Amino acid sequence: MSKFTLSQPSATLVMQSGYSLPDADGFSFPVIENKSNTFIERHNVDAWKFIAAMPDKSVDLILTDPLYDDKDIDINELMRVCKGHIIAFCDPMYRYFQPDEIHHWVKPVSTKNTTKRMSSFIEEILVLRQGDTYNHNLPWANYSGVWSDVVESENVHPFQKPLALIERLMRVYSNKGDVVFDPFFGSCVTGRAAKNLSRSFIGCEIDVETFSLSSDLGGKFRGR
Ligand SMILES: C[S@@+](CC[C@H](N)C(=O)[O-])C[C@H]1O[C@@H](n2cnc3c(N)ncnc32)[C@H](O)[C@@H]1O
Repeated sequence: MSKFTLSQPSATLVMQSGYSLPDADGFSFPVIENKSNTFIERHNVDAWKFIAAMPDKSVDLILTDPLYDDKDIDINELMRVCKGHIIAFCDPMYRYFQPDEIHHWVKPVSTKNTTKRMSSFIEEILVLRQGDTYNHNLPWANYSGVWSDVVESENVHPFQKPLALIERLMRVYSNKGDVVFDPFFGSCVTGRAAKNLSRSFIGCEIDVETFSLSSDLGGKFRGR
């Protein structure tokens, strides 16, 4: 993962969404009057600058997938802005925070350089529980805590997650109309899942080229 290099975020942050209030730092947040009017907001910005400007408890769920070697994950800031659970994919060797639950994604096995150590094909899914949202109305296999979904669409991001897996987590840990936040959205699988499941979505992606991978999602955005 450390070989993944970032291009700089767009210098032209021009677009303000019609239904948002700009705050002192120029970022804007949705005014949610009716949970049946869902929205998608994508921001081509550094997530930590965006988060610093977010009001307390402004989203219902954080579902995200930071870079493996990201040493800057500030769980206190994530807890500040989120009313509900915080879910993050991670390398089993480096947990960003102490979770209440750990699930496992068993990735497809592929050829790797094993001259110095054995391969690992498992990612952990850390869940820090806040609130009690837990929808237990799906078939049992959705609650095993061990999943082996594969990316079924075109693979556009090196660390892309399977849509079905993201949708499963979103169904269980949030409700229709909730606001889901992904500070590190990559190809924006979380945004696609939110759209499919009638959740609202706010997300950040710092890399300009990566940000453009989600341009088909539409919605309000700032950046390119
Ligand atoms: C592991 S990838 C996410 C992949 C995503 N789950 C998917 O399915 O496509 C992490 C992403 O976080 C982005 N990123 C890293 N640091 C960031 C930051 N400070 N703010 C916003 N995005 C960041 C990277 O550019 C990368 O695309």
